[in-house]
Amino acid sequence: MSWLRTLGKTGLQVSALGLGTVKLGRDREVKYPAAYTLPDDPSAARLLDTARELGINLLDTAPAYGSSEQRLGRLLAGQRQHWLLCSKVGEEFIDGQSRFDFSPEHTRRSVQRSLRRLGTEVLDIVLVHSDGNDLDIIERMGTLQALAQLKMEGLVRAIGISTKTVAGGLAAARVCDVVMLTYNPQYREELPVLDACAELGTGTLIKKVLGSGHLAGSDEQGSRPGLQACMDLAFSHPGTGAAIVGTINRAHLQANVEAARRALG
Ligand SMILES: NC(=O)c1ccc[n+]([C@@H]2O[C@H](COP(=O)([O-])OP(=O)(O)OC[C@H]3O[C@@H](n4cnc5c(N)ncnc54)[C@H](OP(=O)(O)O)[C@@H]3O)[C@@H](O)[C@H]2O)c1
Repeated sequence: MSWLRTLGKTGLQVSALGLGTVKLGRDREVKYPAAYTLPDDPSAARLLDTARELGINLLDTAPAYGSSEQRLGRLLAGQRQHWLLCSKVGEEFIDGQSRFDFSPEHTRRSVQRSLRRLGTEVLDIVLVHSDGNDLDIIERMGTLQALAQLKMEGLVRAIGISTKTVAGGLAAARVCDVVMLTYNPQYREELPVLDACAELGTGTLIKKVLGSGHLAGSDEQGSRPGLQACMDLAFSHPGTGAAIVGTINRAHLQANVEAARRALG
């Protein structure tokens, strides 16, 4: 399987591995195994350079990832054309707390703010950052309709939702360009969503491929599946578009790319 892949029907050619950027902008209320400090600008710039050298062209960010969008906007100045940018709407992280607003008005304001922060005229992918009420969002909130309008206006190339439920993922597969879902060796419940996306030709982004880091690396008991098993599972499915893996460690990034390339065969 090839490293560059067509993401569903979006026409976007994404690298098999995308870089998640939570840890570039937020160090509070996260579920990672170890505490960390946000990398300074030179380290973050080296991380992005390494990602690019390794063939990664997809960055995943969100307003809810603290200063991630603003920092990427600064760090990517002059190299926008090398990247596909995925951001989100719906969740805000303010004073250490998540707040949600899925209204069409907020959706438009949020996309306009992401464009400003990221220093770009178009966002390649915008996903609704679900609070868990996926079906409500898809069927009643008007969020996807607002995103569809922004897509018609040329401000966004592809739209979708980052889901938290199987029912939501299945509904999203029918109405979105892209579905972001969780799939790893210890959480396979959303497999039917991947199946549905493969059948319908909907693009997918897999999040938490390493179980937010809890499944990576080896331990003495051998109780963690390890990096390769996580990548093998993510890329074993024909519905997988890209795996979004978060890291601020360049050695981990390199190991992740090598494992993903091995999984692709
Ligand atoms: N839309 C949503 O609702 C949502 C939710 C969660 C995540 N996401 C997106 O998906 C991305 C990935 O999810 P995630 O960050 O929760 O989980 P993840 O990618 O499964 O795990 C990230 C964690 O794994 C560690 N890690 C990465 N490579 C490693 C390696 N080779 N060996 C050991 N540890 C390694 C990272 O630490 P180091 O920095 O030390 O490498 C980090 O703490 C996020 O960054 C975000 O962009 C979206």
